[in-house]
Parts: sequence; structure tokens; C-alpha cells
Amino acid sequence: MTFASIMHLVGLAGAPQRAFGSLLNATGDAIPLTPRWWMPESASTFSHEVDRAFAVIYWLDVIFFLLIIGAMAFFTFAYRRKRADQRTSPVKGSHSLEIAWSVIPGLFLLVFFGMGFVTYMDMQVPPADSMHIRVTGQKWNWGFEYPEQGIKLSSADGLVVPSNTPVRLTLTSVDVLHSFFIPDFRTKKDAVPSRYTSLWFEAKRPGEYQIYCTEYCGDDHSRMTSKVIAMEPAAFREWVADKKNASASLTPVERGQQLWTTQGCAGCHSIDGSALIGPSLKGKYGAQESLADGSSVLVDDDYIRESILAPNAKIVAGFAGQMPPYVGRLQDDEISALIDYIKTLK
Ligand code: CUA
Repeated sequence: MTFASIMHLVGLAGAPQRAFGSLLNATGDAIPLTPRWWMPESASTFSHEVDRAFAVIYWLDVIFFLLIIGAMAFFTFAYRRKRADQRTSPVKGSHSLEIAWSVIPGLFLLVFFGMGFVTYMDMQVPPADSMHIRVTGQKWNWGFEYPEQGIKLSSADGLVVPSNTPVRLTLTSVDVLHSFFIPDFRTKKDAVPSRYTSLWFEAKRPGEYQIYCTEYCGDDHSRMTSKVIAMEPAAFREWVADKKNASASLTPVERGQQLWTTQGCAGCHSIDGSALIGPSLKGKYGAQESLADGSSVLVDDDYIRESILAPNAKIVAGFAGQMPPYVGRLQDDEISALIDYIKTLK
């Protein structure tokens, strides 16, 4: 059920537009209620509604702040006590004043609620024909999975979407709380372990828009960023076809390399020998690895497989053991492809 149809049912079709559309123009872009430097680009179909609610509340606050503080300062000065025997005010109370200062702010609250409700419903209810993408938060990568197109991407690739098309995201997390935030679209939602949340947006025009993780989630929280890459719908269809052709003809090593980025391995393990959150995998295959408990282990297929599925079984010396288990998240052939890729990291 769309917001428009709910409003139609309760006999309020067009009411928000009548109430607020005349107050401010329909797109909000042309009326600079907030200066351009103040807000990030307004790039989704509902971002102007958020800005509008913000601007109306903000400027009413400014006006009332000046009126109240101005009146207070003026009265303090004009009616200050000038002589020791001067009487204080004889006024005891005023019902009409009290009613006025309760009812008028009450009416403003109703206006704020109306704007908030309309905007919230528009942001909350995705159109029925939205394209669906699954987003998985993990320390410290965003995974993007396209169930209809059979494509998997990572933070490094970006979230590729068609512009002028509603896109619905289903969010979850494999470890801790993360939060998915696209400032240019004025939308964010928590990614919660063992639970699904969702958000939707429609990019108004092609372009690149920053994605942040906006829930502190550990060491590399500030690096858990990505980009929405919005393409013209025709370009997006072409991109999907290219992507599918490319992955159909991959060798196991190439497939492993692709999984290396899409599964977020690259976020914690380097391939050049430098230590990140986890050990580098350069030159590891076939070598002896020293473990935190003082023993050592030969890095072979079985050890790599165990380290992917149950990373805490054997912790490498000098590391904290922060990797989430991948059991249930990778197929056997995917694990084999990753091993084949890791063998090539000499
Ligand atoms: Cu993920 Cu902060």
C-alpha cells in the first residue's frame, strides 16, 4: 500500500500537497531556505522533503528565539526597578495569555508532525516495483548482493544502481551493529545482526554518492565507506550483462580473486606483506605459521579452509582474532576458489 493510497482511503488525498506544497515549491530546490553550502547535494526523490522539514523547523526556531530573547532583554531593561520604594508588578495571571501561549505552539507542533509524518511515510514505504538488493555489514565491509541479477559486490566496487528507479535495500549484519548512511539521499538505517531492516531510495540523476557506516563498530569504522554509483537505466542494463558474462568465464583463480574482494577479505588481509587487521597472505601458502599459543601450523588447504569457516580455532601470533566465521556464507567451491587464489600470492 502506497502512502498516496492511504491518504486517499482516509479522504486526505492531496492534502499534504495542498497544505505544504503552496508554502514551499514542489521540488524544494528552487527556494534556498537553507544555503547550498549547508546541506550535501539533494539527490534522491525525497531528500527535499527532509530538507524542507528541517528548514521550516529551523527558521521558526530562529524567529522565536529572537522574539523571546529580544522581548526578555527589552523588558528587563525598560521595566527594571528604578527606586527602592517602587512596587513590583501587580499582575497575578492571565488566562487568555496562558491559552494563547499553549494553543499557538500546539498548532506549530501539529504542522511539524504533519510534515514529519508525510516525509517519514514517503521514506518508509518503497514503491511496489522497486529493484531489490541485499546489503550485509561486516567489520569492515559492505557486501551488496543482487538476487535478481545474480551479482555480488563489495565496498570497493560500490553499490551500482540505475538512476530514476526505486531501489529497495534489505540490510543485515554478520557481526556487530553497523548503520548504512547516504547523506546525499538523506537516508540511513541500522544493519543489525540476526535481523533484517530495509530502506529505499530513488536517485534523481546519475552520479556518485558517498556511503558511510554511521554506527561505531570497531577499529576501522571510519574506513567502512563505499559509494552509490547511479547509472542511466540503459547503462545499468549493459553493466549487468557485462558483469554476468565476465563472471561466467572466470577460472577458479580469477573467481577466488573476485571473492577476495566481494567477501571483504581484502579489508583485513593485504596481499603485499603488510599487516592490517589480520595477517598478510603474501607467501603464506606452504609456509609455517606461528600461532598465539606458541605452536605452529603448516599453511595448507585444510588450514585455510578451517581459518575461513572457524577463524578463532587457530589465531596467528600477534593478532587479535577479529574475523567473523564464514560458515554458512561460502559454498565449498567458493572456498576452493579462494584457496586457489591464495596459492598464487607469492
Ligand atoms: Cu560499521 Cu561502523
